[in-house]
Amino acid sequence: MTSISSEGLPRAEVPRAFDVGAEAYDRLVGANPGYHDHLRISAHRLRVPNGGRGLRLLDAGCGTGASTAALLEAAPHAEIIAVDASAGMLEQAHAKSWPDSVRFVHMPIEALAEAGVHGPFDGILAAYLMRNLADPDAQLRRFAGLLRPGATLAVHEYSVRDSAAAKAIWNAVCWGIIIPAGWRQTRDSKLYRHLWRSVNTFDGASDFQRRLVANGFTGVHSETMPGWQRNIVHTFLGNAPGDVPGDAPGDASR
Ligand SMILES: C[S@@+](CC[C@H](N)C(=O)[O-])C[C@H]1O[C@@H](n2cnc3c(N)ncnc32)[C@H](O)[C@@H]1O
Repeated sequence: MTSISSEGLPRAEVPRAFDVGAEAYDRLVGANPGYHDHLRISAHRLRVPNGGRGLRLLDAGCGTGASTAALLEAAPHAEIIAVDASAGMLEQAHAKSWPDSVRFVHMPIEALAEAGVHGPFDGILAAYLMRNLADPDAQLRRFAGLLRPGATLAVHEYSVRDSAAAKAIWNAVCWGIIIPAGWRQTRDSKLYRHLWRSVNTFDGASDFQRRLVANGFTGVHSETMPGWQRNIVHTFLGNAPGDVPGDAPGDASR
């Protein structure tokens, strides 16, 4: 049996844990009030112009397609490439109905080029992914390289370390609801204990913003969500470095 360290599962084992949880995933997140609304909020915070006409977007760690659907709503005319390392999660995504402009790719995000997927992208959404990566700094630099200069990365993620109230709510919700519900649905609580631990040990909101800046992003800021996940779920926004033709230097709030 895989041991779960104080930081959660070894990161190479995370996609396999999602394979096990894939079938129950949509049911479990559907019971979380705000899950889909919050993804839509983060997708809209990318501020993709013109409904995405002529633009390419990347959904990094798309899972069963919940974040892909949010991107599609925010930018219905964009080409969307949705990538995940879990075959089980992608099987659930494929079972849904999508327009031809959406393509799913089975590949660890770290090795995207091996799937023949290259930039530039006009926006990237990474929802509940960063916490699961072995080397978030290296991935942020890869994201910066995949984006057109000035284009925006939106990292939608739990971050509780900066708020004692957020930490207390997170721990109560995990042990009172998420871990028991995950066990009931899958008879395996590994993924849900990983979720609990990995959120507790992930960067606080200010540290994650500093991490974005250290990896070259400009105009970095974060916005939280309404409701009970206020100060628990955030959209972290940053623009890829480089000169934007005919634009002021990067400001993710543009
Ligand atoms: C919590 S789910 C989020 C799915 C979706 N973005 C959503 O918002 O519902 C995290 C996803 O990240 C994927 N993942 C974890 N590590 C990955 C990696 N290194 N490369 C690609 N996907 C990864 C998992 O397989 C899982 O589907």
